[in-house]
Amino acid sequence: MTVRDGTFGSRILELADALARHSESSAELTCTYLTPAHRAAAADLKAWMAAAGMETQIDAVGNVVGRIAADNPGAKTLIVGSHYDTVRNAGKYDGRLGILLALTVVEHLQQNGRKLPFHLELIAFSEEEGVRFDAAYIGSSAVAGRFEPDYLQRRDADGISMRETMQLAGLDPDAIPKLGRRRDDLLVYLEVHIEQGPALLAANHPVGVVTAIAGNVRWLLIIDGVAGHSGTVPMALRHDAAAAAAEIMLFVERHCASRPGTLGTVGQLAVPNGAINVIPGRCTLSIDLRARDNKLLERLAAETSAEIERIAKSRGVRIEVKEVMRMPAVVCAERLQTLLADAIARLGLPAHALMSGAGHDAVMFDGITDVGMLFVRCGNGGVSHSPLETVTAEDADVAARVLLEAMQNLR
Ligand code: HGY
Ligand code: MN
Ligand code: MN
Repeated sequence: MTVRDGTFGSRILELADALARHSESSAELTCTYLTPAHRAAAADLKAWMAAAGMETQIDAVGNVVGRIAADNPGAKTLIVGSHYDTVRNAGKYDGRLGILLALTVVEHLQQNGRKLPFHLELIAFSEEEGVRFDAAYIGSSAVAGRFEPDYLQRRDADGISMRETMQLAGLDPDAIPKLGRRRDDLLVYLEVHIEQGPALLAANHPVGVVTAIAGNVRWLLIIDGVAGHSGTVPMALRHDAAAAAAEIMLFVERHCASRPGTLGTVGQLAVPNGAINVIPGRCTLSIDLRARDNKLLERLAAETSAEIERIAKSRGVRIEVKEVMRMPAVVCAERLQTLLADAIARLGLPAHALMSGAGHDAVMFDGITDVGMLFVRCGNGGVSHSPLETVTAEDADVAARVLLEAMQNLR
């Protein structure tokens, strides 16, 4: 099969549609860690990788790993991967595009009898978003030898621990430490991902080379004030937990709006057992802080935590802050940025460079091996983490041909 325009693209979208059949809800796409939908998606991915001629396995954290060994047993290994879990009410392409696109490239190489001079591992990481257990990057951290053992104690909304969930799924948590790849065995790590933003759309480019990935701090807050009767407690005597949360939320919004290169979001906000005529005694919220470099991230986190303390004191509420992630910013390897840019140029396209505000499995491999990322234009204004997420077959096709070109020129 020669690489005709569109060959890869239509197949990629067809596979994404097939994978999206597996969801925890019939009304939307939700596929969180080790649910039956997630296991069914893993089974499809394993079957597709096997059909493409790869040795396949599902590892101790649920990653689906396809491997093609090089003729030289001593060769290093290229890992190409992304994640197959989703957020709630997700789009079909976040994470999955990178897996399926690489799969079509492997199919092409196999069908044309083309061997690479290095081992190839295509890894569908089992969990990147951190939705079910507030623990992100489970799949890639295990492969990078950075899995956090305390994750196993984290519990989902039904109170089931990750360890129990893994065991119920037939996985062996005690085998996780063995998954870490040896640095010397790795050639590089490459990931293709939808941009999840509007930059490529605005620049009218189908693909872009990622220069760096923003740093990310994530906190879960529990605010305890004093519940009371909404009709009798004077305003000046209240310790309203929800009002404290609102003040924090507005600080995050205003502070990040005033600091270029930073972003702040409160994605979860709740008054447990709230009632219309009760002053909230407790309020829970999440804070997601991002910054383009580590100095900015540390300063943003310090300023935000100082403001949380000030608000707690001024309102007479107790605020518990649980840090569930602190991921430094990652700079993509120059040589891989060049490899991808040259591949794009050979296809006659301009190589647009851009930074990623979203986190990706690639961050787990920083410091382990060189990391490179290729972005694919995201339609509908660049929306993601939404069912409105779109990518065109043409753009997916271009990205697949760029990845093929880059892999064939990687040494
Ligand atoms: O949240 C993120 O940045 C990624 O989409 N998990
Ligand atoms: Mn995501
Ligand atoms: Mn993603």
